[in-house]
Amino acid sequence: ELADRRALLLEINKQAAKYFYCKLRTPGGADAMAYLKRRGLSDETIRMFGLGYSDKYNNDLYQFLKKKGYSDELLKDSGLFNVDERHGMYDKFWNRVIYPIMDVNNRVIGFGGRVMGDAKPKYLNSPETKIFDKSRNLYGLNAARTSRRRNLIICEGYMDVISMHQAGFTNAVASLGTALTSQQAGLLKRYTDEVLIIYDSDEAGVRAALRAIPMLRSVGLATKVVNLRPHKDPDEFIQKEGMEAFEERLERAENSFLFEVRILQGNYDLTDPQGRTDFFHEVAGKLLKFEDEIERNSYLEAVARLYHIQADMLEKLVNKLALKGVGLAEQ
Ligand code: GTP
Ligand code: MN
Ligand code: MN
Ligand code: MN
Ligand code: MN
Repeated sequence: ELADRRALLLEINKQAAKYFYCKLRTPGGADAMAYLKRRGLSDETIRMFGLGYSDKYNNDLYQFLKKKGYSDELLKDSGLFNVDERHGMYDKFWNRVIYPIMDVNNRVIGFGGRVMGDAKPKYLNSPETKIFDKSRNLYGLNAARTSRRRNLIICEGYMDVISMHQAGFTNAVASLGTALTSQQAGLLKRYTDEVLIIYDSDEAGVRAALRAIPMLRSVGLATKVVNLRPHKDPDEFIQKEGMEAFEERLERAENSFLFEVRILQGNYDLTDPQGRTDFFHEVAGKLLKFEDEIERNSYLEAVARLYHIQADMLEKLVNKLALKGVGLAEQ
């Protein structure tokens, strides 16, 4: 019963994806096509990601699916329509470029839609449905899972994933508009042992990275953070600097622990004795969480080198905190 319902919802999404895909290629879709071209996407890329267009009529997708015989009740559950008393059911996506969202088995589970101008909201996404759980899926993983690159890249946006794939970085995925979840971290771990975080270089991106790191670490993923500055996201970086420069940034990715420490350092004035004391106490607390002694010592030495403190001194502090049981209390 439920399985049948899910199968029908997947079928509706597939029909809708095809519908949007075809619309992009009609005269009515010319502006949308021009928009995608202006953003540097090739025909091949547009096809690979199944991009589409939802047109300026607000009821045509509904009519199209009704003709195929789906019930209103089922269509409501698809998340493709808005319902209100005055208008009845009408298309949720209006005059937007459409990004179908696929699961690892290439089944369309939802959609993202972007305005072509500056209107708000910039992106509209399918709501969660019986077949669309945002916390358990990653955009682009259906393609990235077979990538021959040795790690996976996690970024923020649809366009970031698409630009990276087009430039040959076929290992890129994005969390779906929300912060990375522990289920998504688990999903990544099924396909790789190393993740590169490449979030936007604004403050929100840094905060998102700081939240993602412990999540990735806790499932046993080695994690590094890529710096895109002065550009704001991977898409923009690749458009402006090209793929070789991008590859270099990936190679220079920063160890995620050292990234955390560097961000932490921004809260302290290391030229002030009190600032130094507080900073190294906090770092010692973090070092304490490494259970493996070699690992802990490697990080300790790296921090000592980078922040100009004697390694023995830092080690003594860590040991002192260990005795006090502060590390345990913090967890
Ligand atoms: P472009 O402007 O097309 O390059 O998008 P972007 O991906 O760079 O946008 P941004 O960095 O602002 O957002 C990252 C991701 O967050 C997007 O890809 C969306 O998944 C999501 N997002 C952005 N804006 C909105 C919004 O207005 N509403 C919702 N629901 N999600 C959004
Ligand atoms: Mn429409
Ligand atoms: Mn952003
Ligand atoms: Mn962005
Ligand atoms: Mn962008």
